[in-house]
Amino acid sequence: MTGRVLVTGAAGLLGSQILKQAPPTVTIAATSFQRLLPAGFTGETYLLDLSNADSVAQLLSEKRYDVVINCAGASDVDRCETDHEYALQSNVAIVRNFVEGARRNSFRLLSFSSDYVFDGTQGPYAESDRPNPVNYYGRTKLLAEESVAADNLDACIIQLLAEESVAANNLDACIVRVCSLYATSPTAPRNLYRGILESLAGNKVYRAAVDLISNPTEVTDLAQAVWQLVAMPKLPRVLHLASPDCISRYELAVLIAKKLDVDTKLIERVNMTDLSLPAQRPRRAGLKSDLANSLLGRELKSFVGIA
Ligand SMILES: NC(=O)c1ccc[n+]([C@@H]2O[C@H](COP(=O)([O-])OP(=O)(O)OC[C@H]3O[C@@H](n4cnc5c(N)ncnc54)[C@H](OP(=O)(O)O)[C@@H]3O)[C@@H](O)[C@H]2O)c1
Repeated sequence: MTGRVLVTGAAGLLGSQILKQAPPTVTIAATSFQRLLPAGFTGETYLLDLSNADSVAQLLSEKRYDVVINCAGASDVDRCETDHEYALQSNVAIVRNFVEGARRNSFRLLSFSSDYVFDGTQGPYAESDRPNPVNYYGRTKLLAEESVAADNLDACIIQLLAEESVAANNLDACIVRVCSLYATSPTAPRNLYRGILESLAGNKVYRAAVDLISNPTEVTDLAQAVWQLVAMPKLPRVLHLASPDCISRYELAVLIAKKLDVDTKLIERVNMTDLSLPAQRPRRAGLKSDLANSLLGRELKSFVGIA
């Protein structure tokens, strides 16, 4: 593919991999906010608070993009629970600003959401399942989805639109729901895998919930899949994109310990309630990626395969 692509949140876990995996034929521009962009990136760069509508409108009117891949957002679920303003600005305002921009400037928009829009009673979930978030992070991700689905439509309309290629309001936008992202590289931003690895390598007990279930998804592989999607002529409005393994945090920690050849006794089996976290989690969450697998012609990498 060719064209001009803006990658936002490009210093983050997913955004930095989207930059690294970009095909050489596209011209990339990137934004960050409080962190530096990955070393070696030589394209156009912007340091912007994307929750500011005027800043986004100005950027999009001065520069023309064919695609915006919005990786900016909040990923700290507990902070969202206690700091609602932060959650709303990072998860909802940014997406709304780009939806507005996409309407005015006619670019394709991909933006990321989460399995945390579901309540975790019967995951893994398909695109047609009804969202019902149990924490503030999930609520803000759902609000952002609604602004992409169409103005003033509620969540159930998203389900109806999930299989549609062209939106009722002519917006070329796709919400990609992902979950439990990790990177094995030591230079990657802090993530699930590194948290477990650092704890075990430091001979510290890692308390892992047996009742927190989702699909750990490797970001390099995910980023490659996202670029495949970007090049497709039509995309569904909502797409689930995750690895095939739906496993508990406890099972994940054991797999990592085995990979590191560390004593699994360092992993303590706990329940979510034992961790006393500020935000409730959807316990049996995770995503079914059948639609994405058929579009891509492959499944994402299995964690079990990597470990
Ligand atoms: N990580 C996961 O397991 C997970 C799971 C499900 C969904 N998601 C979603 O996937 C997307 C990417 O997540 P991630 O793990 O890559 O998160 P991340 O590492 O925290 O990166 C998010 C990026 O967003 C940028 N950002 C936040 N507020 C901003 C603002 N007001 N203006 C401009 N930039 C802003 C940050 O920029 P600076 O660093 O420069 O400040 C940060 O680099 C997010 O929408 C997240 O909710 C992630």
